[in-house]
Amino acid sequence: MKSRILIIGACGQIGTELTIKLRQRFGNDKVVASDIREGSDALMNSGHFELLDATDLEAVEDLIFRYKVDTVYLMAAMLSAIAERFPAKAWHLNMTSLFHVLDLAKEQKIKKVFWPSSIAVFGATTPAVMTPQTTIMEPSTVYGISKQTGERWCQYYHDKFGVDVRSIRYPGLISYTTEPGGGTTDYAVDIYHRALKHGQYRCFLQAGTTLPMMYMDDAIRATIGIMDAPSEAVKIRSAYNLAGVSFEPEEIAASIRKHIPDFEISYEPDFRQAIADTWPQSIDDSEARNDWGWQHEYDLDAMTKIMLKNLKPKYTH
Ligand code: SER
Repeated sequence: MKSRILIIGACGQIGTELTIKLRQRFGNDKVVASDIREGSDALMNSGHFELLDATDLEAVEDLIFRYKVDTVYLMAAMLSAIAERFPAKAWHLNMTSLFHVLDLAKEQKIKKVFWPSSIAVFGATTPAVMTPQTTIMEPSTVYGISKQTGERWCQYYHDKFGVDVRSIRYPGLISYTTEPGGGTTDYAVDIYHRALKHGQYRCFLQAGTTLPMMYMDDAIRATIGIMDAPSEAVKIRSAYNLAGVSFEPEEIAASIRKHIPDFEISYEPDFRQAIADTWPQSIDDSEARNDWGWQHEYDLDAMTKIMLKNLKPKYTH
């Protein structure tokens, strides 16, 4: 019986925690991690690992065949800020890898696909407050365009070929296990590291830039939640809006000051400000809540407490 899960891009910020969680749930042998590079010790030592270029169809197919994979989580992608530096490379990675996995599902070589979308699908013309599920989408970044296009292809493969693909639009994700790589929302992770290391942080977004964010445990629960849902409950096959908390840099600084009273934040916005300015401030995720029972748990202060507690040992000698 085919029954393994393959995670492509397992060593990134989401992939690392997703792999560990799925291994705890289904058993180490059942979850195959793959990435272009090796990952954390916890990931490398807890089960199968294969080096994999997500754009190499033959290599992906070979892994699926060898490990009897029936479910793929495609987490490999170039994020918003870094994709602006390498547009062609980002487009190639983000789109080619998706087409390969969708085609493998169409050919019934796998049964189920998870592919992450993002708040980056929205743009300057989108209503920014409580952004609805269905609204104007004119993304201005390479990353956003790739995610919006990907969403349409997911819906298309589902409607035309019956592919069981599921997706959510992640907000900015905050975690301590693996650092994010090249996103616009990454300041909300960096700030905790700097607070512990230097007691101060120079923010690359300006004061007042409110963005939707989420603690990683919530994001992982949402991911597993939508994959667990019965097929008929997943009514949207592009991607679901998903909301956790929304805050601006001053608010996260205030939350940190409850633990580190002298913490100081200053502002030096760079090119990422222009990206953040086109993204929503808050998200209406009622469809996800209604269709497959999504509920977030962590607010800003709960997240701050966990982040500081877990990062502290790294900076205490
Ligand atoms: N966190 C991502 C980024 O900033 C958004 O999907 O690129």
